[in-house]
Amino acid sequence: MGDLKGITSRLDYLADLGVDVLWLSPVFKSPQDDNGYDISDYQDIDPLFGTLDDMDELLAQAHERGLKVVMDLVVNHTSDEHSWFQASRDKNDEHADWYIWRAARDGYTPGEPGAEPNKWGSYFGGSAWQFDEKRGEYFLHQYSKKQPDLNWENPAVRQAVYAMMNWWMDRGIDGFRMDVITQISKPYDTQGRLPGEDGSELEDFPAGSDGYSSPFPFCSDGPRVDEFLAEMRREVFAHREGFLTVGEAPGITPKRNEHITNPDNGELDMLFLFNHVDVDCENGTKWNPTPLRLTELKRTLSEQQQAVKNNGWASLFFNNHDQPRAVSRWGDDSTEESRSLSAKALGLLLHMHRGTPYIYQGEELGMTNAHFTRLEQYRDLESINMYHQRVDEAGIQSSESMMDALARRGRDNARTPMQWDASCYAGFTAEDAPTEPWISVNPNHEHINAVEEVCDSNSVYSFYKQLIALRHTNPVISAGDWQILDASNEQIYAFMRSLGDERVLVLVNVSGSAVDVPAESAAVLAASGLDEHSINQRLLLSTYESNHAVSSVLNQRLEAWEGIVLRID
Ligand code: GLC
Repeated sequence: MGDLKGITSRLDYLADLGVDVLWLSPVFKSPQDDNGYDISDYQDIDPLFGTLDDMDELLAQAHERGLKVVMDLVVNHTSDEHSWFQASRDKNDEHADWYIWRAARDGYTPGEPGAEPNKWGSYFGGSAWQFDEKRGEYFLHQYSKKQPDLNWENPAVRQAVYAMMNWWMDRGIDGFRMDVITQISKPYDTQGRLPGEDGSELEDFPAGSDGYSSPFPFCSDGPRVDEFLAEMRREVFAHREGFLTVGEAPGITPKRNEHITNPDNGELDMLFLFNHVDVDCENGTKWNPTPLRLTELKRTLSEQQQAVKNNGWASLFFNNHDQPRAVSRWGDDSTEESRSLSAKALGLLLHMHRGTPYIYQGEELGMTNAHFTRLEQYRDLESINMYHQRVDEAGIQSSESMMDALARRGRDNARTPMQWDASCYAGFTAEDAPTEPWISVNPNHEHINAVEEVCDSNSVYSFYKQLIALRHTNPVISAGDWQILDASNEQIYAFMRSLGDERVLVLVNVSGSAVDVPAESAAVLAASGLDEHSINQRLLLSTYESNHAVSSVLNQRLEAWEGIVLRID
């Protein structure tokens, strides 16, 4: 499965790469319905991953190497196996109001639950309401039916969450990545009632082809998000220093990001926005993927960058455990050469933006999608549920097209085991007794793996090391202003960074064919008066060899997947 001891044994690898902070996916006690995002005990480690002692050891070893550790805080919902939820199933228990319970639309007779309160849908397919026989009512779950939403309107829930967070902070962790944190406040009215709860029906929203509405309108960015986040800041972080908070914020606008991450508002340090990773699908449905239009990626990232120009801060990511691998999605993993080049180009593009970059395990090796072809190979409940929902139940997609969509977008693409070496199971399981991991290892681990790449100065890994080092040593890269160039060009992604007198030009060819540098960027190059000698001195980084980069700049033409970072003073 991968465990805490395994991570501890690899901390030197992370330190060598140069990362500052390690974000752990949830390792708490969990029935693992959604890979640990369904927690049954927040103050214990799941035996799959180890013990609290192992966690303490990981923290000590990480801190010794100057690495901080951030844990995943999943408090929009718990597991249905959490003791809070079990207690809440009894209407007379003090936890009765800790979750969001509603009566059946047409009443309840034992043995016949009656209709769900309305047609709100869940993110993992089907209704957002699940009937509980013991309580005789439905509970709300935006995600799987084993992930009931907590009722954040109840102050006792909030206090219990803050106490748990303080317990972990006191134990020595350095902060939290907060799962779907902008969904904790539902659109209640000021009396704490869901719309329509005054006796009339709950408000319905337009239903999709599967008969249910998206959870977004009834769950995202409710009126009390700012209040709850500010309260959390006061209750958990006010007296602490050197911590990091980053909130997952699906559907949140760049403007709202500015507000939430503005230090004056005392909420969170950073948010993960998603508009830039939602650009390549039809009508916002990830199961209808479309090819990337580079101008759309520029437009969404520009919006994000501009919104936090004066206040707030951006986080930067293309990959995480919910996204397919960027090198397969927007790069080209069809040949070894194009994989390595495009992984570097995408890495350079992202890391040269302003904000804090996040690297997802194996991204630094250029790990690719899993390329699964059979449903049985998938482990993720979203992929499996969605296949059944869309193909078998609603009949809105053919099996072939859904399998193709899963291969391109499924979350398991990111979840195959880390590729440490070329051995059986990629060195992911015990060396002395290799056992088949919980999900297949990508067969390409034979040539894409850490052992090969760490000692190869031309590898994706070595390139990521340079990217990180560049940010650590050049404030213009980490903090300088950001300005897009040639916004309407579909092949080259170009921008300027500036801080004081320093200016840096970033040019990336996001395509597999050579192309001329477009007008605005060409004008910057022309005005800079750079010649062969000075280019060499001003070249901060390039995805090709430096001689090559010099001739590309002189000829104002970039090769396939060529990326260049050049100081223009
Ligand atoms: C977040 C997590 C995802 C999980 C969901 C429900 O989006 O990143 O993996 O399935 O929340 O907790």
